[in-house]
Amino acid sequence: MALREIRKDGDPILRKKSREIPEIDKKIQTLLDDMVETMEDAEGVGLAAPQVGILKRAVVIDIGEGVMKIINPKIIESDGEVVELEGCLSVPNLSGNVERPENIKVQYTDENGEEQTVEATGLLARALCHEIDHLDGILYTDKALELFTPDELKFDEDGELVSEDE
Ligand code: CO
Repeated sequence: MALREIRKDGDPILRKKSREIPEIDKKIQTLLDDMVETMEDAEGVGLAAPQVGILKRAVVIDIGEGVMKIINPKIIESDGEVVELEGCLSVPNLSGNVERPENIKVQYTDENGEEQTVEATGLLARALCHEIDHLDGILYTDKALELFTPDELKFDEDGELVSEDE
C-alpha cells in the first residue's frame, strides 16, 4: 500500500466526472487499499478516487464502524433533509453547513465484485452523499449554506460544536 497525494480545491481534476468501473482487477484493489491508507493518514472519514487524481467511481468511507470500499455507487432512494457541518480533505481549513437527505439507500459493488445495498442515516448518509458528489465533480462548498474558517467556530472540550461565532 502507498499514500497518494490528496488533490486540493483548484485542481481541475476535482471538477471532472469519474467513469464507471467495469471490472474489479488488481489495479482497482490497489487503488482502494491506497485510498484507505491515505484517508486514515489524513484522519478523514471518506475519500473519493478523484481526490487522489483517479477519475474512477470508487469511494472509501470509515465513520468509525469499519472501512467500506464502495465501487460504482448509486443513490436509489432518499428522504428527509438535515443540515450539518461538513468538511473535506480537498478543502483544508474550512467547514460548512450543508443540507443532505436524512436517509438514503445506496446500491454499489464491493471489492469482491458483489452487489450490495446499504441503508444509511446520519453521518454515514452524509459521507456517502459527499463522496458520491466528488465522483460527479461536485464539492460540498458548492452546496454549503454557510462556510466557516476554524476561527469562526467554537468547540467545547469534547470537540462538539458549541456555537458559530457571529
Ligand atoms: Co470531500
